[in-house]
Amino acid sequence: LVITSMHLSPAARARLYNQTISLVYYICTLTNNAPSSDLADVFPCSPPLDLGKVQGDILAGGLPKKTETCYFFRINDAYVHEFRTQLGKLVPLITSTAEVINDQRKQLAQNKKDAAEKKITPPHLKLSGVNISFSTKGLKKMGITDEIGDAAFDAGMLAGAKELGDIGTSPSNGPFDPDWIPAFKQEIDGLILITGDSYATVAEKLAEIEKILLVQARNPIIHEVIRLVGDVRSGKEKGHEHFGFQDGISNPAVTDVDANPNPGQQVVPQGIILLGRPGDAPTLGTPAAPVTRPHWALDGSFLSFRYLFQLVPEFNAFLKNNPIPITGLTREQGSELLGARLVGRWKSGAPVDLAPLHDDPVLGQDPLRNNNFHYTFPDDQQTQTRCPFAAHLRKTNPRGDLDQFGPNALPPHRIIRSGIAFGPEVSAVEAASEKTHLPRGLLFIAYQSNIEQGFQFIQQSWSNTPKFPPRKPANEIPGFDPIIGQTNDDGVRTLSGTDPNSQTANLKLPKQWVVPKGGEYFFSPSIPALKER
Ligand code: HEM
Repeated sequence: LVITSMHLSPAARARLYNQTISLVYYICTLTNNAPSSDLADVFPCSPPLDLGKVQGDILAGGLPKKTETCYFFRINDAYVHEFRTQLGKLVPLITSTAEVINDQRKQLAQNKKDAAEKKITPPHLKLSGVNISFSTKGLKKMGITDEIGDAAFDAGMLAGAKELGDIGTSPSNGPFDPDWIPAFKQEIDGLILITGDSYATVAEKLAEIEKILLVQARNPIIHEVIRLVGDVRSGKEKGHEHFGFQDGISNPAVTDVDANPNPGQQVVPQGIILLGRPGDAPTLGTPAAPVTRPHWALDGSFLSFRYLFQLVPEFNAFLKNNPIPITGLTREQGSELLGARLVGRWKSGAPVDLAPLHDDPVLGQDPLRNNNFHYTFPDDQQTQTRCPFAAHLRKTNPRGDLDQFGPNALPPHRIIRSGIAFGPEVSAVEAASEKTHLPRGLLFIAYQSNIEQGFQFIQQSWSNTPKFPPRKPANEIPGFDPIIGQTNDDGVRTLSGTDPNSQTANLKLPKQWVVPKGGEYFFSPSIPALKER
C-alpha cells in the first residue's frame, strides 16, 4: 500500500494517515488477521482513536468545572504494591473524553432550557470529573522504568527551573534553588484532578478517592503533599483570569476529535497532544536509533503544571500610570489599550489584531471570528501596528510570523491549556495600596506529547527570548512576553511596539507580575493503561 501525501498540510496528512490506519484495521478484521509486525515496522500501526480511552481533561476543552481540586500525592513507600492494586478500583471513577463531550452536551441543553424558563438560579447537574497523572518519580516508584521518550519529563520541573527563568538562588555547593513553596520541592508522585459544578460534588468524589486509597487510615497508601483549589471566577468575570482577560479561547483543534473547528482555529495532528498518534515525535534517540514510545504510553499525554501567582494590583497600577497616548482616547482608554497590547486581546477576548483601538465585546464572544487572524495584515507582518510582536498571545502562538519557516514550524509547539484561576478577588484595600496582600493567580495546566517542544519551548525559547519572533531588520528586538516572560540573570524586561505610533520605542517593565511558585511535569496515561497498571 503506497500513500503519496506530498503537498499536504500536517492536518490533512494526519487525517489521511488515520483513515488509512482505519482501513488497514478494517481489512485485518475482514481477513481475521492482526496487523503483522512487518506492517508495524513500515507503518507504525496504532488502533483508531477511541475517545472513551483518553482521560477527559486532555482534549475537548477540559473536565466540566466550576471548581477544581488539584491533589498532589506521594505513594507511601511501604505500600506501592497496594497502590497498584487499588489503582484498579480508582479506574471506574476516571472520566474519559467521550464522557466529557457527553456532559458538555447535557450542560448545553440544560442551559438552553434554563434560559427558556428564565431560571435565575438554575439547579446544577452534579457534573464532575476525575483524572490521574504521574510524575517520573511516581512511575519509577511503581516499577515502570522503560524510556518514555521525554527528557524534560524524566528530569522533572524542579531540575529545569533555572532554564525556565524562575527566580532563585545558586549556592556554590548545590543545585539552583528556585523561589518556590516547599511542597513543590518535595517528592510528588502523582496528581489527581477532581472537578465539579459545586464544592459538594467535588467533596463527594474526593471522599470516594480517599476511601479507595485509605487516606484517612492509620497506614495510608498515599500521603497528600499539597491540595490546591481553583475556582472559575463569578459574575461578569466568569472565564476571565485574574488580570481580567477572557481566557481559554484559542486552544488548537485536534484532527478527528474536534469535528467543526472554528474559522482560524489551528488544527493539529492528534500526535501533537497524544503519545503514539500520527505527528508524535519523541525527543530522545537519534535517527539511527529512534526511540518509539512504550505500548502503555499510547493515548497518554504530558501534563505541565505551574503554580503561578499573579500580582494583580501591581499590574493594574502599571496600566493606570502608563496609558498609551493616542489622540481621541481618554487616559483610562489609553490604559485599557496598553493592557490589551500586552496580552494581545482585550478583556472581552477580542484580538487587538482585529480590534486595534477599542474593545469589541461582541467580537470577543464570537467564536466564529475571535480566532480568525494571522498577524499578516499587509502592514503588520513586519511592523507591529496592530499587535506587538511580544504580546503574550503572539509570543505563545506566533501564527503567521512563522510562515517563512514552512507549515511544519508551528504545530509541534502547540499545547492544549486547561488551567483555572485560584485565590480571592482583589480587595478594596489591596486595590488602594496597589500591593498584593493575598495569593491569587493561575493553576496552569497544559497538555502536549512533547514537553521540550511544548510548554518548555514556549516559556524558554519564545516568552523569555527577546529576539523572538525573528525580525527583519535583525536589530529590531521584540522583547519579553510581558505576562510570563522572565529572566533570572538580573536582566531588565522590556518590549517594543506597545505604542502603535512609536514602533521601536521600548517600554520598560518594572516587575514580573506572574511569579512561579512551583510546578511539576506529569504523564496522564490512557484509561486502558491505567487498567493494565
Ligand atoms: C493565551 C493569560 C500563562 C500560553 C492566553 C490568553 C490569556 C492568557 C488572557 C488569551 C486567551 C486565549 O487566547 O485563549 C495568561 C496568564 C498567565 C498565562 C494571566 C499566567 C498567570 C501562560 C503560560 C503559557 C501560556 C505559562 C505557556 C508557557 C498561552 C497560549 C495561549 C495563551 C499558548 C494561546 C495563544 C493563541 O493561540 O493565540 N493566556 N496566560 N500562558 N496563553 Fe497564557
